[in-house]
Amino acid sequence: MNFHIMTLFPDMVMGGLKESITGRAIETGLISVNTVNIRDFAGNKYNHVDDYTYGGGAGMLMQPGPVYDAYQSILEKKSNPDKKMRVIYMTPQGTPFNQAMANEFAKEEDLVILCGHYEGIDERVLELIVTDNVSIGDFVLTGGELPAMMIVDAVSRLVPGVLGCDESAVYESFYDGLLEYPQYTRPETFMDMQVPPVLLSGHHKNIAEWRYEQSLIRTKERRPDLYEKYIAENKEEYQQYQKRQNKLKKKR
Ligand code: ADE
Repeated sequence: MNFHIMTLFPDMVMGGLKESITGRAIETGLISVNTVNIRDFAGNKYNHVDDYTYGGGAGMLMQPGPVYDAYQSILEKKSNPDKKMRVIYMTPQGTPFNQAMANEFAKEEDLVILCGHYEGIDERVLELIVTDNVSIGDFVLTGGELPAMMIVDAVSRLVPGVLGCDESAVYESFYDGLLEYPQYTRPETFMDMQVPPVLLSGHHKNIAEWRYEQSLIRTKERRPDLYEKYIAENKEEYQQYQKRQNKLKKKR
């Protein structure tokens, strides 16, 4: 999978992505990250890519020309010339990013991510090239670089082979709409706190049941919105679980 990141700060983006799992994925060729410096397309001797806003107001705006030319340079390089590329603009005005969007984006061969700076980007070039406006949350950052890195990270780990063990992308928070259950490793006792005995029992069915229950409890407590959605969409699975619990209670 090929990421093309349009930015004024390519070193910032690569600095983060060249480490750890994404770094290894780049090295092994499972993903590529091609940064395009918008300033290279400034087209003036001062390398300026921003200007005052028409109509007045504070701050500078990125001009449309350099952004458009940077995009054209990506079109010339993309791996499949016939396929239309998704162009994601990182903006606090976008749709909030979530796992379902990461799954969607992971199906693409090429993904373009546009990072804004200053007060944003001239609307005309956004109208011309952007297919998806994406936000990483209801707060405002100084630029789109950190959000872009987050998208690359979340999408890359879904590319087959990027995670060491393919299973780890399966049993985890959001996979089935619930948060992940608590996990433990050695030592068995830490500061007088014990690992839940069921996890040491070797009884796989009981362990699975305990984990499911913990996921439900945790999701209800921390993300009531996700919990309500899960119950509404997984009535049967939840009812089965309740039946099993009632049976256990009667036995006791
Ligand atoms: N750029 C600045 N703030 C942002 C946010 N919250 N999400 C995406 N891009 C941004």
